[in-house]
Amino acid sequence: MKIAVIGGAGYIGSHTVRELLDRGHTVKVFDNLSSGLRQNLFAEAEFVEGDILSEKAISDFLNDFSPEGVVHLAAFKAAGESMLLPEKYSVNNITGSLNILNAAVSAGVKYFVFSSSAATYGAPKYMPVDENHPTEPENYYGYTKLSIEGFLGWYSKLKNLRFAALRYFNAAGYDVNGRITGLEKNPANLIPVVMEALTGKRKELLVFGDDYDTHDGTGVRDYIHVNDLARGHAEAFEYLERENKDLIVNLGVSQGTSVLDIIRAAEKASGKKVPYRIVERRPGDPASLVANPNKAFELLGWKAKYSDIDTIIETTWRAYQANL
Ligand code: UD1
Repeated sequence: MKIAVIGGAGYIGSHTVRELLDRGHTVKVFDNLSSGLRQNLFAEAEFVEGDILSEKAISDFLNDFSPEGVVHLAAFKAAGESMLLPEKYSVNNITGSLNILNAAVSAGVKYFVFSSSAATYGAPKYMPVDENHPTEPENYYGYTKLSIEGFLGWYSKLKNLRFAALRYFNAAGYDVNGRITGLEKNPANLIPVVMEALTGKRKELLVFGDDYDTHDGTGVRDYIHVNDLARGHAEAFEYLERENKDLIVNLGVSQGTSVLDIIRAAEKASGKKVPYRIVERRPGDPASLVANPNKAFELLGWKAKYSDIDTIIETTWRAYQANL
């Protein structure tokens, strides 16, 4: 299939491009390099530098390429920042997505795979969280993702565009074959921060609370290896083509890992101590957030291969070492 990957120079985007290429798809990447990196591009996938806020740029790109499929991962994703700067998230995540959707339908795109988030659920009312869980986002970032799922539902009905919204849990790790090593600029997520504390780029890791109702008091999340996540995108296209039905699905592995579990795994992989300090809880953080991934198993045949915590941490450590 011809597939356009919007945001394909980013962290998850580049792993998705690699997976699609490995499966024999013809891929082109569109990215404004605001957080994406040239280092994450592949010679086999043509790259067009452009911004989703330019209706002309995105529609020229899709008209020139005329792909059957689009993956859209071009978004801001810092939940805390979205509460302070909602306008920034409205413009990029919502207006930008509508530009892509309009350009996609006019270019005759049939299948749309959207990078959604567990942030669409908000505070978990039960665990593990399945796709029937109420969607009450607690941050504006999560709301932008949920609203785009809504637009996709309408475009499916009105324009016959089939979509898959993939609700990612905590994406982590680096390509197991070491083909992608571009590091995120100014990371705020736990694992990159742990890596920066290990390499000395940061003085220490601040652990946001150790008095949660979890196995060791620190926050528990469902970390999914980015190669497994990338495979989910490829399998979503197969599903859309095979079933001609829309899909909203969790991508997580139902394995709860705490902040201290991550620190221990990082110490094992690196042979060094992680300098850290326990501080106050971060506002808006749930104690635990773990997926029920059964729907992905059942409908896509998707299974995690690399999402054990040691593989996640070892591959990340290797990517950080490659940049030293
Ligand atoms: C966050 C966002 C989520 C977004 C995801 C991807 C919130 C509430 N959620 O998920 O919407 O989709 O990132 O970017 O912001 N932690 C520390 N110290 C740190 C960083 C994190 O202790 O410096 C802890 C957190 O309290 C949490 C765990 O590590 O328990 C994971 O945090 P993080 O990597 O930021 O991801 P989420 O908050 O789960």
